[in-house]
Amino acid sequence: MLILGIETSCDETSAAIVEETADPSRPWSIRSNVIASQVTIHREWGGVVPELASRQHVRDICGVVERALEEGRASWSDLGAVAVTQGPGLVGSLLVGVSFAKAVAAARGLPLVAVHHLAGHIESLVLQNGEIPLPAVVLVVSGGHTSLYLVACVGSYQLLSRTRDDAAGEAYDKVAKLLGLGYPGGPIVDRLARTGNDRAINLPTTRLTHADRNAPQLKGDLDFSFSGLKTAVLRHVRARPPLGEQEIADICATFQRVVVTALIERTFKAARRFGAKSIGIAGGVSANSRLREELKRQGDAREMPTFVPSLQLSTDNAAMIAAAGLRKFRAGVTSPLDLNADAALAL
Ligand code: KG4
Ligand code: ZN
Repeated sequence: MLILGIETSCDETSAAIVEETADPSRPWSIRSNVIASQVTIHREWGGVVPELASRQHVRDICGVVERALEEGRASWSDLGAVAVTQGPGLVGSLLVGVSFAKAVAAARGLPLVAVHHLAGHIESLVLQNGEIPLPAVVLVVSGGHTSLYLVACVGSYQLLSRTRDDAAGEAYDKVAKLLGLGYPGGPIVDRLARTGNDRAINLPTTRLTHADRNAPQLKGDLDFSFSGLKTAVLRHVRARPPLGEQEIADICATFQRVVVTALIERTFKAARRFGAKSIGIAGGVSANSRLREELKRQGDAREMPTFVPSLQLSTDNAAMIAAAGLRKFRAGVTSPLDLNADAALAL
């Protein structure tokens, strides 16, 4: 069976055709995964402008879906369902995908499957690696989220912790902006960090010990916080203008070491606490070279299987939404045609 996946939660318009396979250990195979990035539009403003994003999704969605069908060698009549990101994300952007998916479902009489964006990122691990050993601890780390989940069984996601302030990707983007490096900052900081000294400056690591008043059900010691780190970089930069090339590389390397250490430490701590049989890291920041290396190194040292998506499946894409949609469809979950986008959808 073929499913059409649609993703428009932020600044990428994406459509994909994913096929269900007969192999239970590798349940999904990608026929096509078309991504129209809006980076050049938002770069001018130093970050995503929601109104510009939704308008661009409207312009791109038809062409992107047609291309996904063409590259996937599929016609409308080959489709068995349509999956779409319902949230969380920018509401105007989400509405474009949701409206389009509902129109397709109504016109073709297809079942509609609403997908949580983070369930999509988690599914990217399975798309890339096949089913991973469960229970697994999965870190979803992107521009909008930094959350640890326990996946005890297929399709179940228990939130273990999340960031109290900035997401890790957001911290990357803000630090890049204050260093005058451009948008999106993650890949640029990652590249510059390679030539820097990661102990060159003093940057704080935030360790939280108490439960968050807003989430008393979580213990809190696995939570993340990156806004203090970002402010420390800002203070450091303000204290010594203008920065030379090497100094910028040193700041990038030190910032990256602190972020990666925080992410890895808490992920492994959660894996120990919850008896995980594997660890996965997904989301845009999982493309980070140091994070990938450190995950592999620590996993090998502790004989813990670790998984990441390919670079293309790390950042937002519709293949992961299609795969997560197939997972739900298989479990018998579909959505009515009055489905609405939900900017703050809970997993
Ligand atoms: O998952 P994603 O495409 O969109 C969201 O759902 O947010 O993630 C985008 C985020 C951006 O903040 C970007 O700077 C970050 O992922 N990112 C990286 C790298 N590549 C992308 N951060 C660190 N290192 C990278 N190599
Ligand atoms: Zn994302």
